[in-house]
Order: sequence, then C-alpha cells, then structure tokens
Amino acid sequence: MAAALAGCGGPQSTLAPAGEGAEQIAVLFWAMAIGALVIWAIVIGLAFYAVWIDPSEHDERRARIWIIGGGAVVPTLLLTILLTFGLAILPALVRPAPEGSLSVEVTGLRWWWRVAYRDAQGQPVPLANEIRLPVDEPVQFELGSADAIHSFWIPSLGGKVDMIPGRRTRLALRPTKVGRYRGACAEYCGDSHAYMAFDVVVTTREEFDAWLAGQAAPAAEPASAAARRGAGVFQSYGCAACHAVRGHGADGVLGPDLTHLASRESLAAATVPLSAEHLMDWIARPESLKPGALMPPFASIGEEDLSDLAAYLMSLE
Ligand code: CUA
Repeated sequence: MAAALAGCGGPQSTLAPAGEGAEQIAVLFWAMAIGALVIWAIVIGLAFYAVWIDPSEHDERRARIWIIGGGAVVPTLLLTILLTFGLAILPALVRPAPEGSLSVEVTGLRWWWRVAYRDAQGQPVPLANEIRLPVDEPVQFELGSADAIHSFWIPSLGGKVDMIPGRRTRLALRPTKVGRYRGACAEYCGDSHAYMAFDVVVTTREEFDAWLAGQAAPAAEPASAAARRGAGVFQSYGCAACHAVRGHGADGVLGPDLTHLASRESLAAATVPLSAEHLMDWIARPESLKPGALMPPFASIGEEDLSDLAAYLMSLE
C-alpha cells in the first residue's frame, strides 16, 4: 500500500494534478478505481456466497436471472456509464487554446526536445529541454518530430500527444499551480527513450515575461579567465558546428541551443542535474549518461581544456 501510494505525488504524477486536463483525467481515474474496487468486493462476496450456499436452494429460473443479470445486464450498464463519462471529458481535453494564447513549438529528437517560443516582436526564441509557462493561462503546443515517433507528456498538467515525423499535432494545456514538474517522452523511440525528459516550470506572468526576455537576449560575455579560455576551447573543438550560442558566433542547429544553458535545471534532456562535473562527464563520454546519444565523445580533450569549457558553459546564464 505504502509503495503504491508513493507514486501518487511528486513532479511527474497524474494523481497530483496541477493543470486542467490532468484534473479531469485524475477524476476519471479515481471514478474507475473506486468503481472497480466496489465491483470486485461484490464479485468476491458472491463467490463466497456461492461456495457456502446449498445449490438446491436456488431453482433453475432464479439461477438464470443471476447469470443473465450479472453476466450481461450489469456489465453493459456499467460499461455504458463509463464510456459516457469518459467521452464527456474528451472534448475539453482536445479543444485548442483560444486564439492569441501563448504558442510553443516543440520538436522531439533522439533524445532531446527542441523548443521554440516567440518573443514580443514575434521573433523565434530557440531553447531546449525546458519549458516555462505562466500559471492560469492556456498554452497551445505545436508538436512535431525530426526522426522517430515520440510522445509529448507532462503528467501533472494533462494528457499526452504523439509527435509524428512529417505531421503537426497539437495539445492545449492550462497549468493551475505554480511549481516545478517533469515531462517525458511516452512513446518508445530507441536506446535512450527513458532519458528523454524535460523540466517544466510554472511561474507567475511577471516571472515568465522576465524569463522569456532573458532567453531572447544574446549570451553574456564570459566573466572569468577560465570561462574566456573555455570560449576558445568551444571554438577550437568545433562545438559550434552543432550548437548555437547566440551572440558568440556559434550558430549550429543539429544540437540543443546553448545560449542560456546555465539557466536550465538539468543536462542532457533532464538526465542529470546541471553542474560543471556533469558537463565534463557529458562532453567526454556522452554514452556513459545516455546510450546511443548522437553527441560525439570528446575523450581526447585535455583535463584543463575540459574544465575551462565547463566553466564557459556554466557562465551562459
Ligand atoms: Cu522519444 Cu521515447
């Protein structure tokens, strides 16, 4: 019981809803769970009754009523009620967000998430592996995939929608509680499917606006000597071929945008918390954190260069 209930909370639970869609899904779950429990108790009760009772106490006609009633009428009735109840909440779950709502584009890749917001001028703001949302406002997600079929799911906020190559799918959510949540890929997509997650931060409108303005700005100039040396390492090892650092002459698009990497909570699509140590591990041996990762290993990079590079990346707030 304790082990089962331990799954009812935390940042990635459908049973601790923090969004409108998730609330309705949780109600449906509890109605089904409680209904199933009641039916189970009745069936077990009847089974005991059937064992205890003398068979001759029932005539043929009454036995037939039990069989037809319990085997056909009651299940049909219950399944009809359940289907009606389930279908009734469906329109609210698939309805698009009102015109003019915040729109966020998310593309699934093996194994991370490309995220694009629009700033106040309508210019795209490229991000990766973290989504921030203002509380109590609808958001429209425009979903796509660059390779395999992925599935976009923030259990605390709502239902999931597949991300299909060559197609655009949509999901509208409305977070109702400020907090930190976790999203995940919900469709098996290869080696590191289990390491394809992202952080979701729901804040007030003011905090969200300040955050988005910060993300739209170019990267800060490295302040420390180590970070400045690290910027040189970044260039000389060709990191810019895959990664963008806006304002620092790096505009690769194959990998995640790193302009504000240090403002994120985690690294490698929410695989590990963000820290200089984890960055060094990741750069030298991506496979050790994420099997099948498309980021090439830089095992030959010197210890000093590696720590300078980490200092540079950690300065990108
Ligand atoms: Cu992407 Cu599973």
